[in-house]
Amino acid sequence: MTKLAIKSNKELIYEVLNDPDRKSILNIVTDIFTLIVYHKKLPIHYFGKYLFKKGKTNIKDYFPDDFLYYKFKPFLNEHAVSEVVENKLFFNYYYSQFNISLPKILMFNFRNVFVKDKLNFEITCVTDFVFQLKEIFSHNPSYDSIIVKKTYGSYGGEQVFKINKQQISSDIELISKLYSDVIKTGFIFQETVKQHPELNKLNPSCLNTIRLDTFADKEGKIDIISAYIRMSIKNQPIDNISSGGCQVGIQLKTGKLKKYGYQGFRTSGIHVYTEHPITKTVFEEFKIPYFEEAKELVLKTAGCMPGLRLVGWDVAIGESGPVLIEGNADYEMAGNDLSEDGYRTNAIFRKMMDELNYK
Ligand SMILES: Nc1ncnc2c1ncn2[C@@H]1O[C@H](COP(=O)(O)OP(=O)(O)O)[C@@H](O)[C@H]1O
Ligand SMILES: [Mg+2]
Repeated sequence: MTKLAIKSNKELIYEVLNDPDRKSILNIVTDIFTLIVYHKKLPIHYFGKYLFKKGKTNIKDYFPDDFLYYKFKPFLNEHAVSEVVENKLFFNYYYSQFNISLPKILMFNFRNVFVKDKLNFEITCVTDFVFQLKEIFSHNPSYDSIIVKKTYGSYGGEQVFKINKQQISSDIELISKLYSDVIKTGFIFQETVKQHPELNKLNPSCLNTIRLDTFADKEGKIDIISAYIRMSIKNQPIDNISSGGCQVGIQLKTGKLKKYGYQGFRTSGIHVYTEHPITKTVFEEFKIPYFEEAKELVLKTAGCMPGLRLVGWDVAIGESGPVLIEGNADYEMAGNDLSEDGYRTNAIFRKMMDELNYK
């Protein structure tokens, strides 16, 4: 998938001005001045967090994106161990030793050297690449597709591809392009996780993953801070917000979705939904299956690498329970700020602020 372009400030200002649900210009200007005094900087996040919408009164509970980006993770996550989550290959092999449910890795490579079935071999032409892909499907007759993704240095679903069984024989152009991308660097070839039928009611086009962030305090006590679910609203095979996905907050206690779904303001403009635009499933009426198990899964996983104290986990709900897709030591906390209706309203987030002496 390719990332969406960032909209220009002019386009975004035009959208805000034409939004029928926005506060009055006077209120917007007053809010912005209030936040300039409060944060001592231009509050760009005022727009990305939809604070210009009528009814958004607790504007001081939200944080500027750069504050969230730079003021926590570098102090809480040891850089030297973050590779264990940032590298999708290391991630899978490290966490699988703790009996954590993860998608199976079928093959991986670095440039032209591939490893499959514990054997190492070289591939130098697309015909051999096709042969290996066909072999994966013949050894796994229940698979309709596989997921191919860049091992490291890629975020937001940018280098994640879903390849169907038929495409291997019928779409040589696609496979040739994939081959040329794959042999430039390292990729993993993974089984496609089939999601729980209930989640197909929300959105069937992709695996809708839940972003749960966890915080481990100095004593090693782990808490979940917040959760939101992501889904494509355009029939795409990935759910990432930067690729056009929509996020809906989850009530941690019940696993029920909150009322509103948001797309990324910078990439998709102003879009607030109360139901999925294609399936028409109403968010507020939707309860995530196996949510208790998903919470248990991240609490257990977060304890497996003590050097990482603040992590954003991506969890899918498979047909028989949660499956861990990835961990991010460098996750975009702005998304959680939005779905929590201001991170400051969250007790665990405030506990984290206290430890770092932030007011
Ligand atoms: N094994 C898989 N099966 C089905 N869908 C997947 C799988 N892995 C990833 N996806 C889809 O692609 C998205 C992005 O994958 P992820 O591994 O989180 O990469 P990124 O680091 O780019 O976010 C996931 O949120 C999910 O929607
Ligand atoms: Mg991800």
